[in-house]
Amino acid sequence: MNRRKFINQTLAAGAAVSISSTTALAGDRTPVKILGISCSPRKGKTTATAVQAALDAANKVDGSIEVELIDLGGLGISGFSGNGATTDDFDGILPKLREPNVGGWIIGSPVYFRSMSALCKAFLERCAVLRKPSLLLADTAAGVLTVGAYRNGGQELVIEQIHSILLCHEMMIVGGKPGAHQGATLWNAYKDDITKDEFGMDTARKLGIRVAEAALRVTV
Ligand SMILES: Cc1cc2nc3c(=O)[nH]c(=O)nc-3n(C[C@H](O)[C@H](O)[C@H](O)COP(=O)(O)O)c2cc1C
Repeated sequence: MNRRKFINQTLAAGAAVSISSTTALAGDRTPVKILGISCSPRKGKTTATAVQAALDAANKVDGSIEVELIDLGGLGISGFSGNGATTDDFDGILPKLREPNVGGWIIGSPVYFRSMSALCKAFLERCAVLRKPSLLLADTAAGVLTVGAYRNGGQELVIEQIHSILLCHEMMIVGGKPGAHQGATLWNAYKDDITKDEFGMDTARKLGIRVAEAALRVTV
């Protein structure tokens, strides 16, 4: 079911929607899942670590928040093929994307030549199936995280590129809390130990918190 429809139907049924509180008790509301999607071909490396940190922060926002990391590292995902019949590792991910309780996405990409990774682009192209028959991702909160090897390596550019794609789904784009207004930007300056980038890790946590808050506001 389209999440917008889900919200409308629930409203019609007289259920209360939390539009101001992000402190509801876990027992008060349906669990809301935040998916973290790491789009580096290198499984478990800096992008995945940072996305997990964002998820951990999201998880702490409210007892009803559940989180799950989808690490695309090592998976084979082709871009849109034109014939609609591609079979690859995207098929195994699709059911998770379609779960009705998903209220937010945190999507992370490494910066490759001041662009998103090819894996990220391929994944997002394949998500076109989520636009039919209706926009499944509409009103799902979404925030973006990027990791580059240079301090000004294109992190913000890549955030904007991914935002543009997510807007085609009518997702609700959010940045992070102050200090991370556009999203999370990380600098892999310490030989793949991204936890040493304290500023960047802080932006990841601020993004996670903001995505969780937004997801709670639009779900019942
Ligand atoms: C093909 C390629 C292109 C890259 N281009 C950039 C770039 O334009 N700017 C930048 O800051 N880092 C660039 N990097 C570095 C990666 O963004 C950085 O190492 C990142 O941490 C990799 O993410 P991962 O550890 O999750 O795999 C590039 C790396 C590769 C392999």
